[in-house]
Amino acid sequence: MNIQDIEQEKQQALAGIAAAADEKAVEELRIRYLGRNGLLQDIMKGIKDVPNDQKKEYGQRANSFKTEVLDAVNARKETLAAAGGQTGAGIDLTLPGAWPSLGTRHPISALIDRAVGIFRSIGFTVAEGPDIEDAFHNFDALNTPESHPSRNPADTFYLEDGTLLRTHTSPVQIRYMETHKPPVRIIAPGRCYRRDTPDATHSASFHQLEGLYVAENVSLAELKGDMEFFVRRLMGREDIRIRLRPHFFPFTEPSVEVDYSCHVCGGEGCRVCKHSGWIEIGGAGMVDPNVFKAVGYDPEKVTGYAFGMGVERMAMILYGIPDIRLLYENDVRFLRQFR
Ligand code: DAH
Repeated sequence: MNIQDIEQEKQQALAGIAAAADEKAVEELRIRYLGRNGLLQDIMKGIKDVPNDQKKEYGQRANSFKTEVLDAVNARKETLAAAGGQTGAGIDLTLPGAWPSLGTRHPISALIDRAVGIFRSIGFTVAEGPDIEDAFHNFDALNTPESHPSRNPADTFYLEDGTLLRTHTSPVQIRYMETHKPPVRIIAPGRCYRRDTPDATHSASFHQLEGLYVAENVSLAELKGDMEFFVRRLMGREDIRIRLRPHFFPFTEPSVEVDYSCHVCGGEGCRVCKHSGWIEIGGAGMVDPNVFKAVGYDPEKVTGYAFGMGVERMAMILYGIPDIRLLYENDVRFLRQFR
């Protein structure tokens, strides 16, 4: 055996040991290379045939064969033991890898982020409030009298201590104004709860996006302009128009429902807008003076607009989702479409 042969044998031995499937296989290799009749013995015996001037190097090679192979044997045994006798060998490294499946943002969260981003770009800041509210913030301060049907336990989830699950995000208006002086410009996304029987358009829990702008001389025209800006950005269509229809909410006067010209047909009439040319996006109005009084604002000094939009409704319109329940079932075949 010459010096190159030793090197070659060593590489082969190391590769074989590193790939050994179990401890028994490692031991067999140890015996084959380092055992009493193993290759190392042949190498040692071979030294007598090596010319004198090469004996030193031959000896060194033989030595490194011994120590490296022994190290490899011990390392492999340790690895296999750590893996509980299981093996990394037998894995075909040329096979394509298995991709871990990555989750996606839920379409509701993604839409809230997008909508909030649009309002932030025109000076709104995000405000939040608790899901568990008291009747004062959810109803009284919002000028909603004791007799109002929405306060009925058939419509609202009451807890045993008299608190309730907020039925809308409007109480965030109250909490924010209680703790901040005007001017106020907030957007409040959040979850709401109502005792509704689930069907294609109702869910006992859903999300709203609340807006409030209070300052001196805020007008309904500003509400219209800001709604127009928002919907145009959201839908990506600059020719969208806003229409305000008279309505009633206890906490605004006047109150309106906000429609926008259909983002699909542009107002011509199509399946999405049910051939009316208009799509409703939410409720709004000028903050009622009683609401200002409830939070200690002077209705003679400030005015404000407020609005509330249903996030699920918006998502359904935007993505053509036919049934609100699809948004809560977490079926990946559904969610994957929003990647
Ligand atoms: N809170 C109302 C609802 O749940 C939505 C709404 C209407 C919010 C008018 C407002 C508003 O801030 O001004 O149906």
